[in-house]
Amino acid sequence: MSKRKDLNRNKKNTKKRAVWWILGILFILILSFVGGYNIRNNRLYQVLIKDESKVATIFYKQPYMLLWNKTLGFIRENKDSVVFASDNYKITIPSDKISKYYHMNLDLEKGNYQGFEEAIVYDFNLQNFSDLYAVSDISVKLPEELKQKDRIDVYGIENDELKIYKKALAVDEEGFISFPIGDYQSYALVYVPLENIEFTSNEITLKNKESISLEMRTIPENATLDKIEFEYDTEALVISSDGVLTAKKAGEFIVKIKNMTEAQEIKVVVLPALENIKVDKNNIVLKQGNTSTISVRIEPVDAVDQEIKFESLDENIATVDDNGMITAKNVGNCEIKISAVANEEIYTLVQVTVEERAEETTENGVTELTYIKGVLIANKQYALPSTYNPGVDPTALAAYYQMKEAAGLEGFSLPIISGFRSYETQKGLYQRYVNNYGQAAADRFSAMPGKSEHQTGLAFDLGWVDDSYGTTAEGKWLAENCYKYGFIIRYPEGKEEITGYMYEPWHVRYLGNPLATDVYNSGLCLEEYLGI
Ligand code: DAL
Ligand code: ZN
Repeated sequence: MSKRKDLNRNKKNTKKRAVWWILGILFILILSFVGGYNIRNNRLYQVLIKDESKVATIFYKQPYMLLWNKTLGFIRENKDSVVFASDNYKITIPSDKISKYYHMNLDLEKGNYQGFEEAIVYDFNLQNFSDLYAVSDISVKLPEELKQKDRIDVYGIENDELKIYKKALAVDEEGFISFPIGDYQSYALVYVPLENIEFTSNEITLKNKESISLEMRTIPENATLDKIEFEYDTEALVISSDGVLTAKKAGEFIVKIKNMTEAQEIKVVVLPALENIKVDKNNIVLKQGNTSTISVRIEPVDAVDQEIKFESLDENIATVDDNGMITAKNVGNCEIKISAVANEEIYTLVQVTVEERAEETTENGVTELTYIKGVLIANKQYALPSTYNPGVDPTALAAYYQMKEAAGLEGFSLPIISGFRSYETQKGLYQRYVNNYGQAAADRFSAMPGKSEHQTGLAFDLGWVDDSYGTTAEGKWLAENCYKYGFIIRYPEGKEEITGYMYEPWHVRYLGNPLATDVYNSGLCLEEYLGI
């Protein structure tokens, strides 16, 4: 008996001890939760700041605390943090950790609305949350069938009708959408399946490097627009998921919308746009009072917006006119800026150094170059100084090579027979012609030293030196196409009275563009065109 009693007592004691243990452990656990949450669990899920009367309601992320909220006073510490405090404790939270969204259990119910028969619609009202007057944004956990969508539309409900409120809101990874609360009491979360997307036009035109919004129409009209995927030449175009197209290359391209039941496409015409402004020289040294013209080449040559403008960054040192003619004013340095009118970010700078003028003596007595409307002149009227010895002009030579390449495609070799000739070379050449043919005859086809365009480095004799050249396919091609590369036929047929020289179908002069094109279109020789 007593043994059993003892046994019972022992059992009782063990039970009691176990209960105490459990209670003790629970107590420690609770203590550690309550006392420690501000350290361990301070990942506040949602904080609602009700108004400026320093009251906050805090909801915790952990499920066992979900229903537990606590009203605390808060003090905004500074712009980076907020302190919540009760009598016993205080939590400092960085402002960026405080969500402005209020998490709540909404009564979402499936709804039926006219015009949304094919749609998934869930509606809810905010009447029960009327105390949320300080809440401006709401974050709603979506029902399963909406969670899977990428985007959801939000409508306001007025007299049982849906009024579009927010289109295509992104569903986040946890299946929430967030939006600011508007004037409606009731809202509907809507997904209308998309049947098709049509481009509103079938062709658009833009310039290279420009962006344009692709205009599209959905079927049905109120369809929820998920991310649209496009199919296109990725070398030529970039299209963002919201349909902003940026051109990377000129040409004609087709853009299709992926995964549509009916294939929809649009033709995109990208016009070549000015990308680069190249100049023949980046440094120009001028004597005070002298002028020099910047030769400009535009890339690509077929850009639709070729207009450029010249600007001196210090007009006290040098000025520049609309044709790129620089006039040296005072000793010093300055920059000339050449920019694209359509896009000021495209520009190039030319350094100009103006030096003091020192008196020169030359063999032919000429000390200055003559520029007329920005064009360096060498003709019977205006001579070059005998000391002027620039060599072949690199821009003109580069333009010649471009032209030669184009001619090559037509089967023409377009060789250079003569390019830059120094004063001395011309002197010998002219003298030989005079000796052989007499001066009167020589003067019709050969320039006196100092008066030959070949001394400028801007003229070339191409093909072969004979009148018949003008009647050959190559000579005709040259006459009809050289302007595209900045050249003109300098001594045209029938202009001997004006130029002073016989017809020279082989002699081209580099002017650059747009001048060469202008002269070509005018049908005039250079002297007539410049009015000299
Ligand atoms: N044949 C041209 C006129 C020259 O000698 O420059
Ligand atoms: Zn020549």
